[in-house]
Amino acid sequence: MPAGSNQSILSGGKNIFLIGFMGSGKTHWGRIWAEKYQLNFVDLDELIEERQGTSVAHIFDTNGEEHFRLLEKDALHSCEKLEHSIIACGGGTPCFFDNLDWMNQQGFTIFLSCEPPEILRRVSLEKDKRPLFSKLNPEEFLDFIRAKLAERQPFYDRAKYHLTPAELNDTSLEQFI
Ligand code: S3P
Repeated sequence: MPAGSNQSILSGGKNIFLIGFMGSGKTHWGRIWAEKYQLNFVDLDELIEERQGTSVAHIFDTNGEEHFRLLEKDALHSCEKLEHSIIACGGGTPCFFDNLDWMNQQGFTIFLSCEPPEILRRVSLEKDKRPLFSKLNPEEFLDFIRAKLAERQPFYDRAKYHLTPAELNDTSLEQFI
């Protein structure tokens, strides 16, 4: 636990926000930890899809990214009423508006890091779900990931806790208790 922190991540009703690039494991680990610690689990993209009645890819296609970011901010702010929840954010969520400051005020942010080649491997398997890749050729993916990650890293760095891939397992959260 970092110096100066005296609050347990799993008590006090606060929410845990998982942030990190696409493919970093936010949804995967969020579900596992929520089940293990009996917390609620919310996937922000799924929440947006439920609220809009359509897919994230379709929202990007029909209304563009700017509109999606507004819906994302609204969905995030709707988590204010939650307690004891793990919220898996989209890769871009902390990088728009005051979303990151808001999350840091509302609960605990945890950044899951991941290296570009591994991100590439994972997103290539599900690229239809990832509209930011839809207009790129596969040969451009790795450069795009590197550039986007460099642009977003200053936001990710401001998460309260950071976990590397080697630190990810079903008891990762226990180091913050
Ligand atoms: C995005 C990441 C996606 C989704 C949208 C935009 C991003 O979520 O929110 O396609 O800007 O990085 P995942 O990180 O869950 O793939």
